[in-house]
Amino acid sequence: MRIPIVMAAWIGLVCGGAATQAAANTPAGEAVFQGACATCHAEGSPRVIAGQPLLPDTHAISGDDPARAIGIILFGHFPSPEQRGPWMPSFAATLNDTQIADMLNWLRQSAGLSAWPNLAQRVQAVRAKASEARR
Ligand code: HEC
Repeated sequence: MRIPIVMAAWIGLVCGGAATQAAANTPAGEAVFQGACATCHAEGSPRVIAGQPLLPDTHAISGDDPARAIGIILFGHFPSPEQRGPWMPSFAATLNDTQIADMLNWLRQSAGLSAWPNLAQRVQAVRAKASEARR
């Protein structure tokens, strides 16, 4: 009997176990990217048409340290009136730490880059530091 592809993929996902746990979250990460980021950053989107690189080609995503990527996702990008230019919204209130980590894992993985370690904790730390600074 041949197992249909969909069922085989499902069995693989369920039986994958702890070793593939990070990979199993990447579909969720891709969904976050498609929902929250693709309108501006995917192939054919306004930022890319305007000449900005795809995210995996930026140092923020390809570099060794996730700090810049985490910061811009949590707090956005708001140029001053003198600078002008396009904005990126802040996602601190709409995405949780796991969603941000899954999405960054998916971005890195789809570009063939190794996973950043302890990503969800890193997101949590950047968030915590910012709320401390506001007190
Ligand atoms: C409304 C449009 C918009 C949306 C939605 C958006 N961004 Fe951005 N993003 C920008 C702009 C504008 C910049 C600044 C660079 C530029 O002009 O393209 C930027 C910059 C970035 C950078 C820094 C790139 C670099 O060159 O250092 C990262 C990383 C990034 N965005 C990730 C994301 C992620 C992840 C999401 C989804 C959670 C997202 N963005 C959603 C508009 C957007």
